[in-house]
Amino acid sequence: MAVKTLDLSVEINGFEMKNPIITASGTYGYNNEFDVFCDVKALGAIVTKGITLEPRSGNEGERIFETTGGMINRIGLENIGIEAFLKEKLPVLNKCGIDFILNIAGNTPEDYIKLAQIAQKNNIKAIELNVSCPNVQHGCIEFGTNKQTLYELVQMVRKNYEHCLIVKLSPNVTSAEEIAEAAQNGGADAVSAINTVRGMGVKLDFLNGRFKKTTVSGGLSGQCIKPVALSFVDRISKVIDIPIIAIGGITSFEDVLEFFSVGAKAVQIGTANFTHPNAAEKLVNDLKKFMIQYNFSNLSELQQAVKGV
Ligand SMILES: Cc1cc2nc3c(=O)[nH]c(=O)nc-3n(C[C@H](O)[C@H](O)[C@H](O)COP(=O)(O)O)c2cc1C
Repeated sequence: MAVKTLDLSVEINGFEMKNPIITASGTYGYNNEFDVFCDVKALGAIVTKGITLEPRSGNEGERIFETTGGMINRIGLENIGIEAFLKEKLPVLNKCGIDFILNIAGNTPEDYIKLAQIAQKNNIKAIELNVSCPNVQHGCIEFGTNKQTLYELVQMVRKNYEHCLIVKLSPNVTSAEEIAEAAQNGGADAVSAINTVRGMGVKLDFLNGRFKKTTVSGGLSGQCIKPVALSFVDRISKVIDIPIIAIGGITSFEDVLEFFSVGAKAVQIGTANFTHPNAAEKLVNDLKKFMIQYNFSNLSELQQAVKGV
């Protein structure tokens, strides 16, 4: 009996991924660091740690707080900057044949434009605009919470970048629908959602008859945010036509199917990489196994079947 070939591929404006499992920015390094745990090339793509024009050392003090079903981080976009990325990381990505999406962030629209121009010049085939980081003082989330500002930013970047342009949305907004529409109308090829949810951890110690309080305010991620992400993706899928890449607490194959059922075309895995560094590769294998077992030959067939229920 002939063996059916499986087609799990996803294509967004010329950017081709062999499957819909992607690792999320800030949780998987810059290039092949996770090769010691799994086959990074087996993934649809990786999203690089967020890159800014200049290197950033990030926030001082406590940056991570473990909480029920997740974690809070206030890393503050620590990164090596675009110059070092091009010099040290890009050659490794190209040499290893890893499909990747460059995540970029800035303080001003000009920062985003310059980074997009650099990506264009260096033939980088996909970028993700981080307009949703809650952990920095200026820029970034300011662009992702106002629909007019976001629309104008995406439009400016679009004029300077012709390949796959993904806009990463924040859940910390009043109207998910309006923000997603602004990204689409500005010229995005896809949106990814969600970035972290604004949160706070409090640790109280009682020492020598007095309370001592430590707090960490930042972005909440992990399994506890999955319901927020499902609701966000479900709502925006009803108003935009461009592909949605779902992010938020995805850990298991069932999670992936749930996000397909509300309209996602691909998914990103974030915090789960910290507990199981091969989590994303396992999801690729689980997806393949399910499709073979239940006779789905291509991804859109599976996505339509689960969406139509
Ligand atoms: C430690 C850490 C660092 C992150 N850094 C970035 C970043 O640089 N750029 C970005 O767009 N998102 C960043 N994120 C957000 C993730 O990419 C993702 O959107 C979020 O964690 C939700 O997915 P998850 O619940 O699967 O982790 C970071 C998340 C964590 C936990």
